[in-house]
Amino acid sequence: MLLTDEERSLLSGDHGYAARKSMEILVALGEIYGAEEMVPVRSVQVSGVSYHNLGDAGLEWLEEMAGDGRVRALTTLNPAGMDLESWREQGIDEEFAAKQLRVVEAYTALGIARTCTCTPYLIGNLPAPGEHVAWAESSAVAYANSVLGARTNREGGPSALAAAIVGRTPRYGLHLDKNRIPTIEVTVGAPLTNTAEWGALGALLGRRCGGRIPVIHVDSRPGVAELKSLGAAVVTFGGSPLYYLAGLTPAPHHTPIAERLTLDGDDITEMLESLADGADEVDLVCLGCPHASLAELEQLAGLLDGCQVATELWICTARPTARAAAELGLAARIEGAGARIVCDTCFAVTPVARPGITVATDSAKGCFYGRGHNKLKVHIGSVERCVQAALSGRWA
Ligand code: F3S
Repeated sequence: MLLTDEERSLLSGDHGYAARKSMEILVALGEIYGAEEMVPVRSVQVSGVSYHNLGDAGLEWLEEMAGDGRVRALTTLNPAGMDLESWREQGIDEEFAAKQLRVVEAYTALGIARTCTCTPYLIGNLPAPGEHVAWAESSAVAYANSVLGARTNREGGPSALAAAIVGRTPRYGLHLDKNRIPTIEVTVGAPLTNTAEWGALGALLGRRCGGRIPVIHVDSRPGVAELKSLGAAVVTFGGSPLYYLAGLTPAPHHTPIAERLTLDGDDITEMLESLADGADEVDLVCLGCPHASLAELEQLAGLLDGCQVATELWICTARPTARAAAELGLAARIEGAGARIVCDTCFAVTPVARPGITVATDSAKGCFYGRGHNKLKVHIGSVERCVQAALSGRWA
C-alpha cells in the first residue's frame, strides 16, 4: 500500500501504541483486499460493545487501546448488553453490569460518544452522500450505503475502532466506484405494507441474491422505519450492504443488467412463515430493531393510548431519542400502558431474554438473532399486530 508520511509515522509508533496497533490492523486489511491507499474518514460507527459478545479478552483489548488512544473522527457506539442507567430494573446481574460499564468507560476514554445505538444516523452521526466512512453494524452499514449514499465496507469492531483512532480506512470494496455497480434487477410484484414485510423482502434478497448488488423495483414507498428494516435483513441474511431502490435511493448511472429476479406476494408470505416458530402465548414483545425513531415512538404512543399490556413490551431506542420522546410526552403515554422504553441495548445483545421464551417482533433481523443467538422462539408481524400481542398476551 502507498502510505503518506503521516501514515508511516502512525505505523512506526510515533503517535503511541493505539495508533500503531490501529495502523497495523488497517494495513493488514488493506493488503488482504488489495487496497492501494488509505482514505480519510470523519465518521465511524463501532460495534463490539455488548460484554455479552465481547467477553474478557475484548474488554482487556479495549482497555489497552484506551491507554493512549484518542479518536480522530466522530465516532458512535453500537448497542451495549444492557440499559446503562436502568440495568437493575432490566434484571442484569452486578458482575455483568460492572464489566459492561468498564467496556463503555474504555470507549469513552477513547473519545467515543456513548450513544449505544444501531441507528447512529438518527442521532447526528449522519454522513453526506458520497462521503467515505467506516461503519460497523450491518443494518447501519446498509442504511449508510443505500439510503444515505455514503461509502463504507462492513467493518468489524476492531477495524472500525482502528479507523476511528487514525481517521482513515483502506480504500477497497464499497469505497470504489467499480464495486458499487448494480448486478441484478429485482422486481417485487406485490405491495409491501409494513416493516415486517420489508424485512422479509430483505431476507429474500439476502438469500437469493447473495453478494450481488440489487436494483429493486417495487411500487410501495418505504419510510425510514421500512428502510431500516429492509437494510437490517438484507445483510443479516447474507446479502450485499448496498442496494438501490429504483427511483428512490441514490444510484449511479449504470449499464443494463442481464440478471433478473421476480418476487411475488407468496414469496414474502413464505419468508415470513419460515422466520417464525413461536408458541401461541407470547412472553415478550420487542420493537425497535433497528432502534426506533421518534416517529415510531409517536406511532406506538398512539397505538397504546388507553390500553394496558398483558405481557412485557420493550421498545428499543437511542437515549437521545428517548429524551426527546419524554419531552414530547410520548414516553409517559407509552409507559402509562405498561410498556418499557429500553435504551442502549436490544434483545439480541442483552443476556436477560431467557432461552425458550416466545418473543414477538416486527424485525426479520430480530427473528434471526433471537432464534439463532439467543435460542428464543419468535413471531413476526406488523407493529400493530405486535402491539395486539402485547395487549392480549397471545399471537392472534
Ligand atoms: Fe439493532 Fe439489535 Fe436489531 S443491534 S438492528 S436492535 S438486533
